Amino acid sequence: MIKIRRVRLADLPIVLRIERASFGSEGYSAATFLAHAFRDRRGFLIAEDETHQVIGYVLARKGLPWLGPRRGGITSIAVAAPRRRQGIGRALVHAALAHLREHRTEQADLEVNVNNRAAQSLYASVGFKQAKLLPNYYGANRDGLRMVLDLTQPELASCNRGQEGG
Ligand SMILES: CC(C)(COP(=O)(O)OP(=O)(O)OC[C@H]1O[C@@H](n2cnc3c(N)ncnc32)[C@H](O)[C@@H]1OP(=O)(O)O)[C@@H](O)C(=O)NCCC(=O)NCCS
Repeated sequence: MIKIRRVRLADLPIVLRIERASFGSEGYSAATFLAHAFRDRRGFLIAEDETHQVIGYVLARKGLPWLGPRRGGITSIAVAAPRRRQGIGRALVHAALAHLREHRTEQADLEVNVNNRAAQSLYASVGFKQAKLLPNYYGANRDGLRMVLDLTQPELASCNRGQEGG
């Protein structure tokens, strides 16, 4: 059974390893992860397995001043390659959305590469809808897609994989 919990400083090396393996040189740096943890540690969630190995993370963003206090979203997510397609990504997204709902966020959004079908399917599976094409969002000829979710509507069924708030 996997567990989802708040990040700890000691998790960072493995989070960075998963990040590099998932996004290569475009992955977030330690400084970016630390800044996120400093801003909102409860929105930086870790999935760990039965042996307490870190196997994934998600970053939620809430109430950014330029978005308005009722808008938030998912900044990034990655699951260690050997542990994909086991429901861990979906459990992380549900935990991130629960965090946003706790802070009375009404709309969640995110950006995803148009070619990243796995991530788009994951987000669609929890109710996100495609909202806008973002030309060249990731660089020249690398378009993004904005997806949005109305958090005032009842949640789609969660897989309840031993999620923990703390
Ligand atoms: C995207 C990612 C986080 C998904 O994590 P995961 O743990 O494998 O996802 P889950 O097992 O919870 O899958 C949930 C649903 O997402 C969809 N999905 C996930 N991976 C998929 C794939 N490779 N192809 C098609 N659909 C996929 C399916 O609908 C799946 O439900 P199902 O297994 O019941 O069919 C993972 O592939 C990853 O870390 N990718 C690299 C980093 C990345 O691209 N992050 C997103 C940046 S926007």
